[in-house]
Amino acid sequence: MHILILGATSAIAHAFAKRYAKEGDHVFTLMGRNQQRLNACSSELSALGNNVIHPIEVNFMNASDIIHAINKSIQSVGSIDIAVLAQGSLSDQERAKKDFQYLHDEFILNVMSMIIPAQCIANHFKDRGCGIMIGIGSVAGERGRKGNYAYGSAKSAIHTYLSGIRNDIGNEHIRIMTIKPGFVSTPMTSHLKQSSLFVKPEFIAKEIVRGIEQGQDVMYIPSYWRFILMIIRALPEKIFMKLNI
Ligand SMILES: NC(=O)c1ccc[n+]([C@@H]2O[C@H](COP(=O)([O-])OP(=O)(O)OC[C@H]3O[C@@H](n4cnc5c(N)ncnc54)[C@H](OP(=O)(O)O)[C@@H]3O)[C@@H](O)[C@H]2O)c1
Repeated sequence: MHILILGATSAIAHAFAKRYAKEGDHVFTLMGRNQQRLNACSSELSALGNNVIHPIEVNFMNASDIIHAINKSIQSVGSIDIAVLAQGSLSDQERAKKDFQYLHDEFILNVMSMIIPAQCIANHFKDRGCGIMIGIGSVAGERGRKGNYAYGSAKSAIHTYLSGIRNDIGNEHIRIMTIKPGFVSTPMTSHLKQSSLFVKPEFIAKEIVRGIEQGQDVMYIPSYWRFILMIIRALPEKIFMKLNI
């Protein structure tokens, strides 16, 4: 299989890649912003099995750079079987309130660098009639909370965009998956107090693979977040405004 991973240095994406690397006989195109970190991921995957790995540095802040890299990868390696969109930044909400260039750049990364390749890959899947796309959203995208609405609203945009693509071209052969993890212990959250709600990236990866095998569309990981969010979404705005969550 040709497995394309954007944000391949992410702990979650890397844990996912490792599961397939162990099988061997896959071609990985790993895209990220830093060649050295990509090379390190590439070496780790190479040690796990007999795979071909292409680590490619891409500027995710530039739409044409991303599209050019994806098209080049399709031309040189071949059609994409599985695509993972994993790059992202846990925006600093306090800074985003005052530093508008920062807010802008966070949205370029968290929204545009996800939905533009998502659409490009969706068009590719439509042309070839099959493919699996996995977009990493977040439980933070379900409702605007005072502590993280810059990040949460970006994730919300991704959920809606992927839902639209799924509604447009999704079928049993073209699978568009939205992953909504809760708290995961990765470099992105290393500054946060690690409560019992935190899970490891390996657990998220294992669940995504299970979701692929079972034909899931939208996954809350761990699954108990589905029920927590069901309650949070159902709260009337006046009550939600008074909560400190
Ligand atoms: N950790 C959580 O609790 C959690 C929960 C829900 C959803 N998620 C989502 O899961 C995905 C993967 O995150 P993770 O938890 O695995 O964190 P991570 O290991 O810190 O990975 C973040 C990824 O985003 C890339 N990135 C960050 N800023 C970038 C920029 N300005 N330009 C290009 N790439 C940039 C990083 O590249 P470098 O390696 O080069 O820095 C890395 O590949 C993200 O979309 C995140 O929003 C995470």
